[in-house]
Amino acid sequence: MDRFRIEGPNRLAGTVRASGAKNAALPALAASLLTDEPLELVGLPRVRDIMTMRKLLDHLGVDSEQEGDSLRLVATDRASTDDAPYELVKTMRASILVLGPLVARLGHARVSLPGGCAIGVRPIDQHLACLEALGAEVELEHGYVTARAERLVGASFRFSTPTVTGTENMLMAAVLAHGTTVLENCAREPEVVDLARLLTGMGAKIDGAGNESIVIEGVESLAGTRHTVIPDRIEGGTYLIGAAITGGDILLEGADAADLAPLLEKLAENGCEIEELAAGIQLRRQGELKPRDTVTAPHPGFPTDLQAQYMALMTQAEGGSTICETIFENRFQHVSELTRMGADIQVEGSYARIHGPSRLSSASVMATDLRASACLVLAGLVAHGETQVDRIYHLDRGYERMELKLQSLGARVERLE
Ligand code: EPU
Repeated sequence: MDRFRIEGPNRLAGTVRASGAKNAALPALAASLLTDEPLELVGLPRVRDIMTMRKLLDHLGVDSEQEGDSLRLVATDRASTDDAPYELVKTMRASILVLGPLVARLGHARVSLPGGCAIGVRPIDQHLACLEALGAEVELEHGYVTARAERLVGASFRFSTPTVTGTENMLMAAVLAHGTTVLENCAREPEVVDLARLLTGMGAKIDGAGNESIVIEGVESLAGTRHTVIPDRIEGGTYLIGAAITGGDILLEGADAADLAPLLEKLAENGCEIEELAAGIQLRRQGELKPRDTVTAPHPGFPTDLQAQYMALMTQAEGGSTICETIFENRFQHVSELTRMGADIQVEGSYARIHGPSRLSSASVMATDLRASACLVLAGLVAHGETQVDRIYHLDRGYERMELKLQSLGARVERLE
């Protein structure tokens, strides 16, 4: 199992480019099930979750081939398989994103229930309720969702909570439904907007993506198209926090400042100097880090996917801060490892109280999920001595060769195989 060895403390300086967004790429890949024409996706990140989705699509009869910077996907004549088995789904919850497209295109699907994961229970009841509202017969049996509908029919549906993959899944179901669908209380994340842009490029009629309410006019069929996925705001945000925590100075190229606004506002309050340039976002920290309280929330709130990394930062702030995690019930697993490195953090329910600044010292630490791993790497950058972060396979699910990007910013990080 790979691990990282980090020699600290480090200061990040230089230029780094964000890869394509994993969480925009995954639904974009699933959208290949909606057409029999070739779909070309540009700028997908080279991370493990993308390989997992390609494997699942291959099983469902979609061939994918890398051509330079773009991935070409074509549904072959095997593409009548409707079965997403447990062996493939269990390794990545986002596999549920094939449910909507399969039912929309084939009229039936059998997809393994993804189950809980390290960060929480993560039910999919809202995906299923919406699919039923669109006229599908949905059954849960032997750990599988079976859904059937001769053709989905447009309807009005209100999500009880904004769900990112739920909104994406149901967008992909509704684009081929008969008539108009109105989805309310939708997730407003940039990745939802990017998927709507892709589907529109394929010929779908979608109005309102990025708002709470989305209206979809069903069409008879969709065509192929070429689509470039948006830059990864969570990956980019992780490097910005890296510059902030190390008192560094970096240019994050190709990033969209609007998508990163909730983090940038916070980092500015923490005392970082931030400039939006034509080339990207420049972040520099010279003075002391001011503590700030943070509450995670659906977009445009502070993203839960940056909560762990931000907590690493707050361990270095001059004073006390709190972080309230409102999206997932079990997303503080990095706390015990940060504490082992010398951080002063108390958790009470969904609140963490952090007292900084702590002089972090090196330790062997182990991550339990993707973003917790990133948090530990950031802590390792400022810790004194040699930190080893174990179970880097979590990190590889969503960060493209993080060690190379950090090395290019001057960090002493290496991968031990
Ligand atoms: N929820 C329900 N019922 C549902 C769906 C969701 O109660 O049917 C609840 C969840 O339990 C959670 C909240 O709604 O409390 C929001 O969950 P959401 O469905 O939005 O999460 P997701 O779609 O499963 C995506 C990202 C996550 C990210 C969350 C929140 C992808 C592939 N995954 O998950 O990304 O944390 O949105 O922004 O887009 C990551 O990249 O590390 C990651 C975990």
